[in-house]
Amino acid sequence: MLDDLARQHERLNTALESTPTEIWRNQYHPDLSPIGWHYAHCHFIEAVWLRERILGHAPPRTRDWHDLYFPELSPKWRRGGRLPALDRLIPWGRELQFRHRDWLARHAGILDHPLMANEYLTGFLAQHHAMHLETLAQVRWFARLRGPDPALSEPHLQAPEITSQSWLEWDAVHATVGGDDVLVFDNEKGVHGKELAPFAIRRDPVTNGEWQAFMQEAGYHRPELWSREGWDWRKAHDIQAPLGWRGSGTDIGLQVLPEGMVQRNADAPVVGISRFEAEAFARWAGARLPHEHEWEHAQREGSLRGTGRVWEWCGNPFAPYPGFRPFPYDEYSAPWFDGRHYVLRGGSDWSDPLLKRPSMRNFFTPEKRHVFAGVRLARTMEP
Ligand code: AVJ
Ligand code: FE
Repeated sequence: MLDDLARQHERLNTALESTPTEIWRNQYHPDLSPIGWHYAHCHFIEAVWLRERILGHAPPRTRDWHDLYFPELSPKWRRGGRLPALDRLIPWGRELQFRHRDWLARHAGILDHPLMANEYLTGFLAQHHAMHLETLAQVRWFARLRGPDPALSEPHLQAPEITSQSWLEWDAVHATVGGDDVLVFDNEKGVHGKELAPFAIRRDPVTNGEWQAFMQEAGYHRPELWSREGWDWRKAHDIQAPLGWRGSGTDIGLQVLPEGMVQRNADAPVVGISRFEAEAFARWAGARLPHEHEWEHAQREGSLRGTGRVWEWCGNPFAPYPGFRPFPYDEYSAPWFDGRHYVLRGGSDWSDPLLKRPSMRNFFTPEKRHVFAGVRLARTMEP
């Protein structure tokens, strides 16, 4: 587990060091704090857990830190201007990384704490940082989208994607969902049974090529395909294509990704869509979004392909499992059981493998387009 944390530390260092100075302090999107803030927040959160919550030290001169790095106390639009200079931030981060890993390896007062049973806290921190690192990729995406279009990247040899439009079918089934591994978050904890009605789910995620067909059939301009809320959202923001698509959509065009401009691959999973768009596409295709437990069951049976490429929007809202208990702090999941957040499954090309497990639940509101999400279709079968 300590290796996992060290790996995320290394990724954080690389992320900050490889960011041009004019970018790391900028806020590119109302939802996305500056890169420097995420870097500092990760180290601050470690210090809070280890020094304050476990060892019981008073926060030393940290009032300021608390106001800046606790998301609840720090308005997003003010974060960039308040960050320390880069030449102070980096050495501060390195020092904390070194000290915290040392404590997690040998400090009796920490190792004896109940939160450290099976190295729970080490795993929690590693995953916390991994999620912020994915957000950093979102910031890099927006930095590109806000600037002039980047030049087309060197075409690199990619393995061809294998995709099909084939369906996998299940009769009514008693599925087993949820996890008990030490890494699981509070919201996915508790292995339990779940009755599923007969359903079908696509073997592969929806591809760029299929999305293009939806656009050619005017999918973005047919209100009957959209939910009322989704259509209002589409009109208000004049949404006409997935985030980052360039060109008309009627020919295989270009696409801005966090890494730069690439030729759109017709067989790659579509990415950069809101749940509203996913829903409209599904209706156009005569299908629906999968329930998260249909997805989990099919994934556990080893049948799905292409998982972990894009987060997959699910049909159901984010809600607590039976016996849910907030852990390791009240606000990790509970505030988001609000009926406005929906579940996403699987992980993306920008997620660390640490996060890609069958029980992992991500959650966002339906209008988010920058969360590296795509969609996989499902259908209810006649019994
Ligand atoms: C679960 C990815 C939605 O990034 O807002 C990070 C994870 N929680 N720090 C987020 C999280 C606290 C969370 N998501
Ligand atoms: Fe956080």
